[in-house]
Amino acid sequence: MAFPAGFGWGAATSAYQVEGGWDMDGKGPSVWDTFTHQGGERVFKNQTGDVACGSYTLWEEDLKCIKQLGLTHYRFSLSWSRLLPDGTTGFINQKGVNYYNKIIDDLLTNGVTPIVTLYHFDLPQALEDQGGWLSESIIETFDQYARLCFSTFGDRVKQWITMNEPNVLSLLAYDLGFFPPGVPHLGTGGYQAAHNMIKAHARSWHSYDSLFRKEQKGMVSISLLAGWPEPADPSSLSDQEAAKRAIAFHLDFFAKPIFGDGDYPEVVKSQVASVSKKQGDPSSRLPEFTEEEKRTIKGTADFFAVQYYTSRLVKHREDTKGERGILQDVELEFLTDPSWKSMDWVHVVPWGLRKLLKYIMDTYNNPVIYITENGFPQSDPASLDDTQRWECFRQTFQELCKAIQVDKVNVKVYCAWSLLDNFEWTQGYNSRFGLFHVDFEDPARPRVPYSSAKEYAKVIRNNGLDGH
Ligand code: GAL
Repeated sequence: MAFPAGFGWGAATSAYQVEGGWDMDGKGPSVWDTFTHQGGERVFKNQTGDVACGSYTLWEEDLKCIKQLGLTHYRFSLSWSRLLPDGTTGFINQKGVNYYNKIIDDLLTNGVTPIVTLYHFDLPQALEDQGGWLSESIIETFDQYARLCFSTFGDRVKQWITMNEPNVLSLLAYDLGFFPPGVPHLGTGGYQAAHNMIKAHARSWHSYDSLFRKEQKGMVSISLLAGWPEPADPSSLSDQEAAKRAIAFHLDFFAKPIFGDGDYPEVVKSQVASVSKKQGDPSSRLPEFTEEEKRTIKGTADFFAVQYYTSRLVKHREDTKGERGILQDVELEFLTDPSWKSMDWVHVVPWGLRKLLKYIMDTYNNPVIYITENGFPQSDPASLDDTQRWECFRQTFQELCKAIQVDKVNVKVYCAWSLLDNFEWTQGYNSRFGLFHVDFEDPARPRVPYSSAKEYAKVIRNNGLDGH
């Protein structure tokens, strides 16, 4: 169970989930600040990320954790509204720039490669007030922000992620309204947001390509979440088709335009068109790319960044109630196999990762793959002795190793989610994904390693599962 020489072992966090300091040193509010401050029980116990892990003031403590693990890579995100309080480059908050400069410099001094996400769910509130991702004007604003980051940090940052999980964000924020801005637009808003996100990503990749790549020699991608859908009844043709629709709507919706031919998958286009028609919509609710847009979207990623947590059984189901929504358009239901072990919402299916990686290799022409997130939650209170959770990681590494050694999938980096227990969006602090435990009652926010952190450090030292 050895990994290829030079394999990257990382851990990930995101700004809103760990930083705190929500209004310190000139930071502008993000949509998550607004949403959590409004209360209304949309987040577990109305918790907020106001302080979170305190990483804005306790970065040195995070660095100690990173060194203790021996990570080769650390993935973190920039808070857009810490750098640009109103979201635009009209005013740049120098204290925000200093904060991220220090993180980047400290990582490099310690031989750790930074993987930097420009945008991880925390849109500046000022931009949401102008329509957020539903408005086309955000494409230009995002590009300006991206250029600022490339020009400010790109002399040292060589691995960029433009956006984290736009496939999840468009659904949760703009279709279902579970994430801020909290307003559902069933069957329309999610598609519109996704459409603008894809265009914004492509625009910023082109900016990097034409203005920075030659000098900076870095790589730019986008992180996509994917679960593995397995047909509930493997002998049923309609369940097999449903499983194909599941991955098409979830992963390929973004991956095919960007890594394929510039356009949405055929099955997504035909499915949304036919359900729209059935529901009496005058035309398909799915927006279309022009031919020129397709040409500019195609090929706008330098590696494939994927995040995997869980898998589901998938069963065909026609939506008889006529409800609108992306989830209804797919016409399926998700089931779980009772034999799968569960950690909170994560059904632990390590072989699902291997199948997913093979799918990406076969569908997208054998790209270099980074797993930019993978992990297992424990509910609060979590025991420091998390043997059960380590077993999930161990089995996942075994499957990952088979994917690399047997299937020949080109995976270069694995990042565990997360370095620290943190603010887990609508679950608040109740769902603990950290390799390090954080005591959210203690103002000093002490970080203490779980047993799995010590095991992970051994894997990193041995570059494999020797002795595990
Ligand atoms: C991902 C997200 C992370 C983290 C993780 C665990 O969808 O990018 O921010 O919350 O899920 O749920």
